[in-house]
Amino acid sequence: MEQVWCKVDEYITDKLIPTDDVLEQALSKNKQAGLPEIDVSPAQGKMLYLLAKTKGARRILEIGTLGGYSTIWLARALEEDGELITLEAVSQHVEIAQQNINRAGLAERVTILQGKALDTLPQLKERDTLPFDLIFIDADKPNNPNYLKWALDFSKKGTVIIADNVVRNGSVIHAADQDERVKGTREFFDLLKQEPRIEATAIQTVGEKGYDGFVYGIVK
Ligand code: SAH
Ligand code: DHB
Ligand code: MG
Repeated sequence: MEQVWCKVDEYITDKLIPTDDVLEQALSKNKQAGLPEIDVSPAQGKMLYLLAKTKGARRILEIGTLGGYSTIWLARALEEDGELITLEAVSQHVEIAQQNINRAGLAERVTILQGKALDTLPQLKERDTLPFDLIFIDADKPNNPNYLKWALDFSKKGTVIIADNVVRNGSVIHAADQDERVKGTREFFDLLKQEPRIEATAIQTVGEKGYDGFVYGIVK
């Protein structure tokens, strides 16, 4: 089946996602630098962009920048005077992402904060960017429950919270799995279930990035 998923992704990309030098160059620069190819796919990137547009987002928070591929999609959706803050732990990723973002002409709207997100998130309290309109969680999966708590603190009524990679080939249903990523994802779902401040769903996806899924939630 995986081959069909990839072919269909190619078909969708060909029909609906115009060739884009900036985004393609970002991916090739990432590859050249040896970054893992775990960015969102073009179709997913455009979905993030459309969701941010639907929301009319002025302030976006991203946790997990990598080379800035999803960052560029999201930042392009910002309303005029909007801004995006993205958090990344690995200095090499920050460097590559900054170059990709500069090339995209988005340097003024995007700020990358280097450091472990659990260290940089508290710093956001001192900025005048709170609350966010949209928060994209896409970093180390064991910390997803912590990221959700921070995201809720940085939200207002109507804030959209999206979390990537919540299905991971179906591993999410393996209760006895000792993998910290699986445990983190399951705790994330448990927290969503009991958390009165958010209504959420999760959608399974297939495509060039395999079989996975994302959580979409709105803060009450
Ligand atoms: N959002 C990107 C992909 C992010 S991959 C895209 O779709 O294009 C996950 C990123 O999270 C990696 O770059 C990794 O270095 C970063 N990361 C891992 N642990 C982190 C942490 N504790 N704090 C911040 N970033 C972290
Ligand atoms: C991983 C992280 C991601 O954000 C992703 O989309 C795929 C894989 C990972 O840490 O393995
Ligand atoms: Mg991801």
